[in-house]
This record gives sequence, C-alpha cells and structure tokens, in this order.
Amino acid sequence: MDIHIAVLPGDGIGVEVVDAAMRVLYAVGDKFKHVIHAEFADVGWAAIDKHGTALPASTREICRRNQAILFGAVGLPERDKTLPQKDRPERVALLELRKGLFANLRHILLPPGLAGRCPLKMELIKSGIDIMIIRELTGGLYYGQPQRISGTAPHRQAVDTLPYSEPEINRILKIGFETARRRRRRLTSVDKANILATSQLWRELATAMGRQYPDIQLEHIYVDNASMQLLRRPSDFDVMVMENTFGDILSDEASMLAGSIGLVPSASLGEPDGSGKSAVPFYEPIHGSAPDIAGQNKANPVATILTVAMMLNYTFGLSQEASAIEKAAFKVLNAGKTLTGDLGGQATCSEVTAAIIAAL
Ligand code: IPM
Ligand code: MG
Repeated sequence: MDIHIAVLPGDGIGVEVVDAAMRVLYAVGDKFKHVIHAEFADVGWAAIDKHGTALPASTREICRRNQAILFGAVGLPERDKTLPQKDRPERVALLELRKGLFANLRHILLPPGLAGRCPLKMELIKSGIDIMIIRELTGGLYYGQPQRISGTAPHRQAVDTLPYSEPEINRILKIGFETARRRRRRLTSVDKANILATSQLWRELATAMGRQYPDIQLEHIYVDNASMQLLRRPSDFDVMVMENTFGDILSDEASMLAGSIGLVPSASLGEPDGSGKSAVPFYEPIHGSAPDIAGQNKANPVATILTVAMMLNYTFGLSQEASAIEKAAFKVLNAGKTLTGDLGGQATCSEVTAAIIAAL
C-alpha cells in the first residue's frame, strides 16, 4: 500500500522524536511491503524563523494533500513570551491543524515491566492500567465566544464561554460507545452535571445513547471525583469520554499512570463533511517540546513511535502493522534495559529507537 503523510517535527524534542518514529515507520514499511511517501514541512518556531509565521501556507498545503499528519511539538516558552497570545505557535499552528478533528484519543497504557515507574502503590495497579481517554477537541471553552478581557485596570473583566450542541455531544459519545465495544465494554462519561448546563445536557444524551448499547456498562462520574478515582482505582477504567477542557486536564493526570508522559500517543480524528472529505487526521505525542533536553538525544521516542502505530491503525486500517510496533515497543520497555532518563534509564533516543526496530 502507498502511505502518504505530512511530517511536521516542529520545535524542541519534536525534531528527534519524529525522526525516531519515521525510522520505525520505514522499518515497518520494509517488513510489510508498504511504500512510505513523507513530505516534511515547517511548523512552530522552526516556521516562524523561516517564513514569519508558525503555520505557513506551504505547510497547510502539504497537510491538505496528504492522508495523515504526523506532528512533533510546537512552542518554546522563552520565545513564546515575546509574542502576543494570539500569535503563539500553539494557537496559530496546533489549534488550527486540529480544526474539524473533534475526537482526540489518548491511550494510557502502563507496560507491566514499568510498574515501578507508576507513582501509585503496587496493590492499586496490580490488575494493570489500560485507559483510552476520548477528549472532545473542537468545542467548549477553547473556541466558545465571547472570549476576551475588556475594560481598564483595576476593573477589567474576563470571559470565556462553554457552548456545546446536541450533535457535538452525540458524535463524541458515539465514538466513546463504539470504542468501548472494541475494548473491555466499559464507558465512563465524565461531566459536572451538578453545576454546568452543558454537563446536564451531556449526561441526558449519554444516558439515552446508553440504551442503544446495552452491552456497554455505562458509568457517569463528576470530573472532580474522576480525578480522584483515577488514582484510587485506575484499573477499573476502560474508555473515558469527556468535553475538551476536562479531557485536557484528566489526560495529563492519567499520563503519569503510564509511567511517563513520554509514553502517551494520541490521534485526532474527524468525520467526513458533506463533500465526503474530512479534515486530515492528526497524530501527535501528548508531551510538549521539552526545550531543556532538546537536541541532546535524551528524549523518549516511545510516545511518537506509538503515535505512528495509532496512525497505521486508524487512518490506514493496518492493524497488524500497528500491533507489530506496539509489541516491539512494549518488549523493549518491559525488558527494562534500554530506557531513557524519564524512565530511570540512561539510553539515548537513538538507542531506544534502534532497540524497537530490532524487536520488530
Ligand atoms: C494538549 C495541550 C494543548 C491543549 C495546548 C498546548 C493548547 O495542552 O494537547 O493537551 O490544551 O489542547
Ligand atoms: Mg494538555
């Protein structure tokens, strides 16, 4: 099969982890006889320095004409500070490229061999941790209008708006139920229905949809309680579905359960619009650009390597290839010999990548 992807390494460790993931992708292409066509493009500060903007037209065009986008990270806090909020790479590039991609899947999986890296006590994690967090990505506080600061100090006012429509809630809930059906058939719907109107609507729709999925065990939980239960009974969770901001926060919390944020991949998916074409699916590790360790060959490439596995699975329907990557990565992690610093090891990014390719 021909695989056409746009590759946007971006800033900081984005460059090295994307390079690592591409090596793994080429190795899988060789093994399973697929031809990888990769078009590289600038994004983030890498693009500002060359083209004056974090998302140049040339990059947009490259993204538009490919089947999927593999993305590293954008933003360098020290340099971001010099720009007004609206011109910063995360807004100009990241939020732009995610437009139309309403379903963000973040897979939290603790390799058994790394149980010692999970901050929780062994007795709490002995049945394993494997959680798929599904975060609504195009609605709510991030895009709701009005969003502004007005007036003059010391009497300024600020407002953010949290809107959700029934169709927006239903389409993400459906992804939740369908994903649970392919996994352990448990769905946790996270809301704040004791206070928020959007959450009341959310809970009502989740309950109604639950009747169409009698095989799925549906649980409703308030977001504050969810943040506690994730630490108290992480093994109980299978699929969790929630609105944008709740998902942003809980997925960072949950990433620690996997042993390191350097292990968590993500996929952002849309649905075909009227013309049958949807926004280009977007794949990224959930970690950021980590400028403190950038360019030193120290970054953990596993999140991006697992991100490539998600891409092969969701966009190209290559589940065997995806699971070959996952097995190879988990073999290396469970063996515990070739680990980067975030996992208590001393291996370099290139050594971990080479070990995973050897295990393929
Ligand atoms: C994430 C990040 C982004 C978000 C930021 C950088 C805008 O935290 O991918 O979780 O909030 O979505
Ligand atoms: Mg976040």
